[in-house]
Amino acid sequence: MSITPWHYHSQTQLLLPLLLIALAAATRLVVLGAAAEKQGQPITLPGCPDKCGDISLPFPFGLAAMPGCFLEGFEVSCNDSFDPPRAFLAYPGLSQSVTRYSYIYSGAANITGRVRDMNITVVVAPFELIGVSSAKGEVQVYGAVASVCSTNADNFVKTRQATYLVDTLSINGEGPSPFLLSMTRNVLVGIGWDVDAMVSSSIGGKVGNSYFLTCESDLRGNLHDATNGSCSRRGCCQPSFPEAAPLDRFSVNVDGPYNNTLWETNPCSYAMVVESSWYNFSTPDLYGDELQRKILPRGVPYVLDFAIRSGSCPPEGQPSPVCASADSYCANATRGPGFVCKCLPHYEGNPYITGGCKDIDECEHPDLYPCSGTCINKPGGYDCPCQRGEKGDGKTGTCADKFPLLLTVVVGAIGGISFISIVTLVILLRKEKIKMREFYEKNGGPTLQKAKIIKLFKKEELKPILKSRNFIGKGGFGEVYKGRLLDIGLVAVKKPISGSVLENNQFANEVIIQSQVIHKNIVRLIGCCLEVDIPMLVYEFLSRGSLDDILHNNNVAPLDLDVRLHIAAEVADALAYMHSKAHTRILHGDVKPANILLDDDFMPKISDFGISRLIVRDRQHTNTVIGDRSYMDPEYLRSGLLTEKSDVYSFGVVILELISRQQATHLDGSGLVDNFLAAHKENRVAALFDNAFTRPRDLELLGNLAGIAIQCLEDDVNQRPSMVEVAERILAIYQSHITLI
Ligand SMILES: *[C@@H]1O[C@H](CO)[C@@H](O)[C@H](O)[C@H]1NC(C)=O
Ligand SMILES: *[C@@H]1O[C@H](CO)[C@@H](O)[C@H](O)[C@H]1NC(C)=O
Ligand SMILES: *[C@@H]1O[C@H](CO)[C@@H](O)[C@H](O)[C@H]1NC(C)=O
Ligand SMILES: *[C@@H]1O[C@H](CO)[C@@H](O)[C@H](O)[C@H]1NC(C)=O
Ligand SMILES: *[C@@H]1O[C@H](CO)[C@@H](O)[C@H](O)[C@H]1NC(C)=O
Ligand SMILES: *[C@@H]1O[C@H](CO)[C@@H](O)[C@H](O)[C@H]1NC(C)=O
Ligand SMILES: *[C@@H]1O[C@H](CO)[C@@H](O)[C@H](O)[C@H]1NC(C)=O
Repeated sequence: MSITPWHYHSQTQLLLPLLLIALAAATRLVVLGAAAEKQGQPITLPGCPDKCGDISLPFPFGLAAMPGCFLEGFEVSCNDSFDPPRAFLAYPGLSQSVTRYSYIYSGAANITGRVRDMNITVVVAPFELIGVSSAKGEVQVYGAVASVCSTNADNFVKTRQATYLVDTLSINGEGPSPFLLSMTRNVLVGIGWDVDAMVSSSIGGKVGNSYFLTCESDLRGNLHDATNGSCSRRGCCQPSFPEAAPLDRFSVNVDGPYNNTLWETNPCSYAMVVESSWYNFSTPDLYGDELQRKILPRGVPYVLDFAIRSGSCPPEGQPSPVCASADSYCANATRGPGFVCKCLPHYEGNPYITGGCKDIDECEHPDLYPCSGTCINKPGGYDCPCQRGEKGDGKTGTCADKFPLLLTVVVGAIGGISFISIVTLVILLRKEKIKMREFYEKNGGPTLQKAKIIKLFKKEELKPILKSRNFIGKGGFGEVYKGRLLDIGLVAVKKPISGSVLENNQFANEVIIQSQVIHKNIVRLIGCCLEVDIPMLVYEFLSRGSLDDILHNNNVAPLDLDVRLHIAAEVADALAYMHSKAHTRILHGDVKPANILLDDDFMPKISDFGISRLIVRDRQHTNTVIGDRSYMDPEYLRSGLLTEKSDVYSFGVVILELISRQQATHLDGSGLVDNFLAAHKENRVAALFDNAFTRPRDLELLGNLAGIAIQCLEDDVNQRPSMVEVAERILAIYQSHITLI
């Protein structure tokens, strides 16, 4: 078997059909809009159908087959071949996809194994509607559940071999679609003995602007820690979404368990984005297909906000043509651009159609509209005079005929308190609005919304960039050009100079995997061009070039110690993430300063994961060693087996370069690594530190870093710390350093 650049931890076991089977047993699906849009009241434009099967379609929604019955973006296709018919959002390009990785894993119980025979299938489907509320500006849709299961448990125990299926859900849209994930109505839920659940996104498609919500749950093998109804990191985790920039696309990932002994008991791990009230954890969900029984046949319900994304509300006092009901008003969307229509207070119904908002008869709802006097409904409110002979306000329940002075005081106090609360509320709401607006602006807004996460470029689009005046470098992969792309900005285009196209769809598989890796310290793959012999890759462009240039170019001022520490901490964090977080564990295999790029603020980003390595693989087979020998784990050179510890070794060399500002060379006996190891034995490593630093405190800190590097460079692979440990230790050093400054 050939060496793959990524290796995988073993994950779960037990035979389980992954299809979302079985009927709902214990779900509490409260369909949106069922109550608000009451029978009898029109909810559509005249002459337009108002239903698809059991699902009401209030305007601006309408059947795609009936032009004029919907606002652009709100078209719904109704499929009559089902009974009852089913409704799907038909906005072009809006879809959810489920990526299924199927692979054979093999390895001993206690080590990272290998993956072979990976098949990836992507199923793209439109969103199926469960309900629509035009009054709330929400739709409820079915979403898939991400899961990781093993399909041949018995065989696994005997042969250490298993096939895994991993479903990853992502929402794709060709913006600006009307729909964004609701941040208030959904939660992320992870379920399993030892599960990592994650929602990731690049906000507004903006490069490098990533959003993560993660949760971990670990039972540590003790089932008694799990409690029914409690989703508190024991078998179940459930963070709510922090208020953040709008998510118009996201993916849900799941990973776990890591403890191999759990293979026997852990059937599957799950992650889902689901309506917050829908899921109630119960311990049987940790076994067998209990959870699947609860999942509706088509997935789990979650909520999307909608708004009219183009245009905005007219100036104060002028009616909005879209908010057609006389008793409605126009309001800015709470998230994202655009606006929504709402009924005025004390009205309900569909604000988007003429006469849609109807007066609420408050007297029929005494629970919501209290009245201790005589209730009289009137348009836009109600009166509640006290009985004859009484004084006070029936609405606040203060009708009384005695103690008028006390009454006044009470009423005054209540009035005062309500006034203060209202003022406070208004201030808070306004602050929140401004903050959300700022977040939105800061994050680049809708200008980049059009870009998909991975873009397929046409050859002509990249052609202008591939000119000699744009040439910025040459690496193991090929030539790199700098250019500017419309809507995207500066990019680095990597063009392979030799190699060959990979067999079957390995390249496509790798692109899918890579596109799902979003981390602030990993150079983002924007897209690729497949219209050429060997695919060209388009990455985000980083202005300050590579760490190699900066450390070893004498024209550049030496980096401050805190910048170097920060770089080490961030790079370690990214490598630890790649090794331990993503469900497809990606090894780098060629960690070196030339592959660490820096942006304007000296934020480091690792480049050249995965894909580039696959492309040059052909050449590696014939002669050259994979990666750069100066940074290469000697154990890897001996055994040819790339492990996580190989990256740890290479990272150790990077630390040495950071603290010495000397370039590692691959000369047996006198290279940077050998010098350091020799100096370490003789207790004189400080002699090798960059002489830009002389303060005792700085030297002590460099000594600590050197200590970590020396451990990373241990000959015995098992003595080397894991990347997670390295990241934690460097972070601790960094934090103690910056608190001292
Ligand atoms: C309706 O659903 C069936 C079954 O999934 C599918 O074959 C058919 O193409 C759908 N029809 C439309 C109009 O989408
Ligand atoms: C991948 O697909 C091939 C061809 O369909 C099949 O023979 C093989 O068993 C699949 N491998 C896995 C791990 O599903
Ligand atoms: C894994 O277990 C085997 C014996 O089962 C042992 O020889 C080997 O050293 C272990 N490897 C690690 C990395 O712990
Ligand atoms: C793995 O789980 C078993 C119980 O299932 C427990 O005894 C063991 O300590 C766990 N191992 C680790 C490394 O957490
Ligand atoms: C949780 O509830 C289920 C029934 O819904 C029951 O079978 C199970 O034993 C309960 N678990 C605990 C820890 O109480
Ligand atoms: C969730 O389940 C627990 C235990 O089964 C129960 O006490 C609780 O009321 C349930 N919560 C909801 C919202 O159904
Ligand atoms: C609504 O958004 C527009 C710009 O889109 C802005 O000018 C206006 O002030 C906003 N209105 C409120 C009430 O925030």
